[in-house]
Amino acid sequence: MPYSRVIGTGAYLPEEIRTNEQISQTVDTSDAWIYERTGIKSRRIAGADESAASMAEVAARQAIAAANIKPEAIDLIIVATGTPDRVYPSTGCLLQQRLGIKNSVAFDVQAACSGSIFAMSIADQYIKSGAAKTVLIVGTEICSRIVDWTDRGTCILFGDGAGAILLAASDSAGIMSTHIYSDGEYEDMLYCPNPQVATGDNKDEPGYISMRGNEVFKIAVNTLGRIVDETLAANNMDQSDIDWLVPHQANIRIIAATAKKLKMSMDQVVVTLENQGNTSSASVLIAFNEAVRDGRIQRGQVVLLEAFGAGFTWGSALIKY
Ligand code: ACO
Repeated sequence: MPYSRVIGTGAYLPEEIRTNEQISQTVDTSDAWIYERTGIKSRRIAGADESAASMAEVAARQAIAAANIKPEAIDLIIVATGTPDRVYPSTGCLLQQRLGIKNSVAFDVQAACSGSIFAMSIADQYIKSGAAKTVLIVGTEICSRIVDWTDRGTCILFGDGAGAILLAASDSAGIMSTHIYSDGEYEDMLYCPNPQVATGDNKDEPGYISMRGNEVFKIAVNTLGRIVDETLAANNMDQSDIDWLVPHQANIRIIAATAKKLKMSMDQVVVTLENQGNTSSASVLIAFNEAVRDGRIQRGQVVLLEAFGAGFTWGSALIKY
């Protein structure tokens, strides 16, 4: 059975930087509070002419160039996003059109911040079964457009961006295992309404992220601890076998708790949230790309990717890079 090997990565961050100081001019907060409680100093904000699909294209083209393949070699495109350009066509189809690819299938997955891990899990099943040979995965988000900029509990956290990864069938190790889960019981703790189609009690809710942050925080820490244990056990590994942790970039305190569970120094953890905030389904792929490109993650090393998000959804992917 073939492995899904990483053959290229890419990312895109919009130009505009929004700092904690800027946010503290419009809501009752401060740079010190935000940095101490989240680890975030600034985030990127997409321009008026940018969209999930336009950002995905830039990240995807970078990954394609890094892999040195022609776009038409891609036979499956999976886009993870909670902020699609259109209800339909999928952002996957819009990306397919932008890349000029004809002979492939493209679709979106919606698993909030866990989206790119869900996409990797799906891609791995396609590659292992022989149904696809080369898969492009992109996580792309314009969180700034679904954030209520008057709500200090959420507007301090999110940012915009896209990350991409290309996987190809290979005889040598790539993805070792993926583990994905969801539990729809927690809808009320973290959700974003869709006002145009909402009914009943939800009819008049604006289309902004709503989150009971403190409760989400506690569940995220416990759940990520469990999934890390499960991933290690499934691969007969212990903590010392992991070279790098690439976590979802939600909050530095959640990341530090997972690193502690793995007995890892923070030097082995890829952290990008300080200047990016939480880019939801894009965050793990943006962080992975950064550490590959700056040479921290080396071929042959073992990398654990993990994420937690609305749903709740959560998951991990263990990769021999
Ligand atoms: N500035 C100043 N004070 C604030 C702010 C702010 N921006 N936000 C909240 N506070 C206040 C609260 O009102 C509260 O005041 P009180 O004690 O007088 O009632 C106090 O600070 C503590 O509030 P908490 O909510 O307990 O703060 P906490 O330390 O939990 O931090 C945060 C809040 C940053 C939101 C944190 O809970 C968090 O990161 N949660 C997890 C987010 C997450 O992982 N989400 C999942 C992924 S996102 C997705 O899937 C789309």
